[in-house]
Amino acid sequence: MCGIVGYIGNKEKKNLIISGLKELEYRGYDSSGLAVMDKNSKDINHFKAVGKLSNLEEKTKNFNSYGFGVAIGHTRWATHGKPTEINAHPHIGKYSFVTHNGIIENYKEIKQILEKKGVKFISQTDTEVIVHLFENFYEDTKDVFKAFEATISNLVGSFAILLITKKAPDKIFFAKNSVPLIVAKSSSGEIIFSSSDAPIIGLADDGVYLDDMTYGVASFNEINFFQNAKTINPAIKNLPKDKNYAQKEGFRFFMEKEIYEQSTIITETLMGRVKENEIYFEELDDDVFKNIDEIIMCACGTSYHAALAASYLFERISKIRAKVEIASEFRYKNSFLNKNSLFIVISQSGETADTLEALKIAKNAGLKTLAICNVDNSSIVRLAKNVILTRAGIEKGVASTKAFATQVLTLWMVVLKLAKYKKVISNNELENEIKALLNIPKAVSIKDGLQDKIYRISKHYLYGHGFFFIGRDIFYPLALEGALKLKEISYLHAEGYASGEMKHGPIALVDERLFTIALLPKTTLYDKTKSNVEEIVARDGFVLAISPDEFDLADDFIKISTHDHPMCEFFEMMVILQIFALEISIRLGNDVDMPRNLAKSVTVE
Ligand code: G6P
Repeated sequence: MCGIVGYIGNKEKKNLIISGLKELEYRGYDSSGLAVMDKNSKDINHFKAVGKLSNLEEKTKNFNSYGFGVAIGHTRWATHGKPTEINAHPHIGKYSFVTHNGIIENYKEIKQILEKKGVKFISQTDTEVIVHLFENFYEDTKDVFKAFEATISNLVGSFAILLITKKAPDKIFFAKNSVPLIVAKSSSGEIIFSSSDAPIIGLADDGVYLDDMTYGVASFNEINFFQNAKTINPAIKNLPKDKNYAQKEGFRFFMEKEIYEQSTIITETLMGRVKENEIYFEELDDDVFKNIDEIIMCACGTSYHAALAASYLFERISKIRAKVEIASEFRYKNSFLNKNSLFIVISQSGETADTLEALKIAKNAGLKTLAICNVDNSSIVRLAKNVILTRAGIEKGVASTKAFATQVLTLWMVVLKLAKYKKVISNNELENEIKALLNIPKAVSIKDGLQDKIYRISKHYLYGHGFFFIGRDIFYPLALEGALKLKEISYLHAEGYASGEMKHGPIALVDERLFTIALLPKTTLYDKTKSNVEEIVARDGFVLAISPDEFDLADDFIKISTHDHPMCEFFEMMVILQIFALEISIRLGNDVDMPRNLAKSVTVE
């Protein structure tokens, strides 16, 4: 999703803005732009480019901006209007420039009013109204801050806004509602804005993660914050120090690196949380489970699949009703909510608009809330009453891998904690579960020759007419996730299906060019799933079987280790599906880390 960077100070601004935007590339974007104002001349230079940031670098290669000044930059993920240069940010008035993340819902009404006053619009975006509205108010008031304040109070929707104007050449005006914005001051007084902390690391040690409906103005060494026309003093938080995550560490793609680091990451997720045969979450009060008789999980995309897998575990191990909701559906469903439900949202980014909104609904309905999230200080983390961080580290590949692994693992630990709280698990059973938990770092470590084998067989799967990933029980959500991974980065049509459902329609598609990826765990309903696969083989479907047991009828076969716990099979198969998608995508020459049309953090509904 869009990214914003802003800067006030003496450093060379073009490079600073572009390198900040590069840190935000993982959010997904399709065009970019920047504007730099020199305080003395009040000249504003601006540049825009469609496509990758390298195009913006090329366009700005002869431009430098030394000396004191202000600058704003943006990566745009198109929502209103195509990814063209005109629609790219910053948007331009007569003497002001604006960048914006989010959606201005009442932009049409504002546009009509301004058009009647003779304002000409050149883009198809919602953002352009902001700059014209601001200049319109300025013409009335001749007061820059009042004009900005009036502009913000007229906007309905979600926004992180940075505005610069020749009428106040040393300042950046900012506002935030529903999408993230951070502002930091360096020790020498420079001001840096960004949508996430990555671009600020190394420039400042701490910063303010703005709350909704906060706005203000920054100049060198000074930031003034407001809410409802009153000055506020928001809390300053330490920023992370480690920038090394940005390196691919020898891997060709971030996604590949992230698949390989799952073993270490999972060890970190477990750290301090499994002690003497008990699950501990130091951040969680046992009260969170008090009087709870239902679990509702709500999420989008891959996080939704993690929730689906966990729903089987909650019912089976914690003996509690567990429902799973797609956040975008839940938002408008007017669900009948019961106060004894624990509402769990799962989100890698903590910024997904639909999940955030669903959380607000549950909170307003008086439900206990728990966020399973990867990003501390994100909007979802700040809103939820209880939070467990998944500790996956920054995930840069748009297709989620290690974040999914840590979500499932964390939810599994919550399941065990609840089972113990409810006294529905024996010591022996808990011991077995914990043994399996501790075995997961090994289950996800990639065995010698595995990637090479998947690379070799991946060539069979480039030219079919579609994929079915099938499984039963917890392997059904895993099948959904395997199919999602493949379609995200290969652009091939893939669907996940419950094995038993194939004969209720999808089997009609089976022929020798229809690929079935069959998840055949030995611990869970092996014979049932095997019969479903045989039905596909009988119709000449092309089958890749993944199982600890040889399966002669399959065209391709990947053997996993023998495990006595389904979750160990689940995690070992998960890695295979991730590498399978990766190798097909590489063979097809796609951009693995930034697949077309997708965004890492979806901050609009
Ligand atoms: C986007 C990402 C997916 C992710 C989904 C939910 O679509 O591309 O990988 O699963 O959003 O994101 P969240 O950050 O809430 O887990």
